[in-house]
Amino acid sequence: MADPTYGARHIAIIMDGNGRWAKKKHLPRALGHKKGVEAVRNIVRVAGETGIKVLTLYAFSSENWSRPADEISDLMGLLRQYIQSDIEEFVENGVRLKVIGNYKALDRDIVGMIDNAIERTSKNDRMTLAVALNYGAQDEMLRAVQSIAMSAKAGEIEPDQININDISNLLDTGELPPLDLLIRTSGELRLSNFLLWQAAYSELYFTDTLWPDFDKRELQKALKSFGDRDRRFGGR
Ligand code: FPP
Repeated sequence: MADPTYGARHIAIIMDGNGRWAKKKHLPRALGHKKGVEAVRNIVRVAGETGIKVLTLYAFSSENWSRPADEISDLMGLLRQYIQSDIEEFVENGVRLKVIGNYKALDRDIVGMIDNAIERTSKNDRMTLAVALNYGAQDEMLRAVQSIAMSAKAGEIEPDQININDISNLLDTGELPPLDLLIRTSGELRLSNFLLWQAAYSELYFTDTLWPDFDKRELQKALKSFGDRDRRFGGR
């Protein structure tokens, strides 16, 4: 049988369209996000079964703070519930939790839950689930630049010796394999400050499907499309 991952080790998803999904069904936005979490739960399982090694999900961007307070609070509530209800499954299924982004700025109880879940799953190696929380790629790159500048100032590195790997390693994704496939749902054709550095040679896949409707078949379609691409990494 053909490899169901088509060689993709690391895939990332911009999970967009919860609001529109709810609107289409004349439901409150909050229900769209709730369905969005169910889609997350399902895709984490499916990705693990498929043999994907790293799944990175954009759950809350550094720009999402500009949403109405009640929506932010709904999203944070869902995040709490998700970690609480699924941590045991991560432990049992070999899922290692990782968070990218400046998550320490979230509410203290959430930070505690996250740190605990990271600790409890740190030895798991079937799949890494990297959740982007309070994440923005420009902020991530800025933090890496600041860190390198400090090293240079301390005389630990010569500015002209800084190379691409040094920067990659300092990003929140530093220890993860290269990004193979970046998916965005709901028909929007932009990267919205997500994994800008990491996307350099990844394949992009856009679908009109709204996030709550993104299921196993949709993931298989995206992987099949990835498998049909001719990746040249700038060569010919
Ligand atoms: C986009 O929908 C989705 C988000 C704001 C982030 C995704 C969040 C979830 C799936 C729920 C929380 C996640 C976890 C891991 C617990 P939108 O509101 O932008 O939709 P719209 O563009 O149709 O309005």
